[in-house]
Amino acid sequence: MLPAKWRSISQIHQQLTMETNNIGILTSGGDAPGMNAAIRAAVRTALHLGKRVFGIRRGYQGMIEGDIFEMQTTDVSNIIGRGGTILKTARSKEFMTDEGLQKAYDQLKKHNIGGLILIGGDGTFRGANHFFEKFTIPAVGIPGTIDKDLIGSDFTIGFDTAVNTAVEAIDKIRDTAEAHDRLFVVEVMGRDAGYIALNSGIACGAEDTLIPEQPNTIEDVLQRIDRDERRKKTVHILVVAEGDDGGGKRVSSAIIERFPQLDVRTCVLGHIQRGGSPSYADRVLASRLGYAAVNALLAGNTQVMAGIINGEVVFTPFCNVVKGETPIGTDMLDMIRVLSS
Ligand code: F6P
Repeated sequence: MLPAKWRSISQIHQQLTMETNNIGILTSGGDAPGMNAAIRAAVRTALHLGKRVFGIRRGYQGMIEGDIFEMQTTDVSNIIGRGGTILKTARSKEFMTDEGLQKAYDQLKKHNIGGLILIGGDGTFRGANHFFEKFTIPAVGIPGTIDKDLIGSDFTIGFDTAVNTAVEAIDKIRDTAEAHDRLFVVEVMGRDAGYIALNSGIACGAEDTLIPEQPNTIEDVLQRIDRDERRKKTVHILVVAEGDDGGGKRVSSAIIERFPQLDVRTCVLGHIQRGGSPSYADRVLASRLGYAAVNALLAGNTQVMAGIINGEVVFTPFCNVVKGETPIGTDMLDMIRVLSS
């Protein structure tokens, strides 16, 4: 039985019992700082509970290829503070095919793996859903993505670190922007989600922030710059999520065209946001979820993702994790504009 305060936020999708003592663990999709802390927590919890643990390298692709090795407690020593993932990661196209799924299942059987811990983002859980439509194997997920775009958890592992990285970089950009009286367009990551942009925009006092969830006409952006220009504002920092229609490049081009007198520069922060040592918040989140996920798997609370909502561990069925849109505080965009005036 799980502790009573570990709730399920909707009906448990499936209750499955592990048929063997062996647990497989993988990281999949884009890496996120804190994935290693989650691996460490899951491996040590499983070993503590008398299970054998098998690391699956390179996500679902490694599962298909049988890139699987047994892990001991020392394999996860000194990794809590390391970025990346010791299990490596991949985005597997083959896993989307029937042959790929079959090969993956055969490899799990070959290694006598009776349960899975899956760490990743929406692609990981879409893949899981797809796999479990065909094959039955108990699994619990852990949200690991810098994008924070999953239903079922207020935070995802890596988000806090990525925002801190973006904030540090944008603060530095502001120094040079002020020195030269320049307008900077800073593109941050977030393919479909604007959380990194929104939060780094607030934290850096950005003049404007553009996110995919709230489409802006470029005309709106230009009008706001025009207003700032009239007020003789000399420095502008515009934070743009990569997923905002056309990203930073489109915004810069439009600004240069309308305001040729402005000295405009574009900076794409890119994969810097994915690396580095995880923040304390990501280490704690990863440790709690790694521990909870293994306990849930062994209690038979499966085909769910472990998450944290309002500070509590909760479990959400995989099919719900990938279905909905995560709410974003678009009212905060107005706040950004007011506070930077
Ligand atoms: O999903 C995390 C993420 O970093 C997104 O923000 C970004 O769009 C994407 O991964 C980049 O993926 P890749 O590293 O495969 O180019």
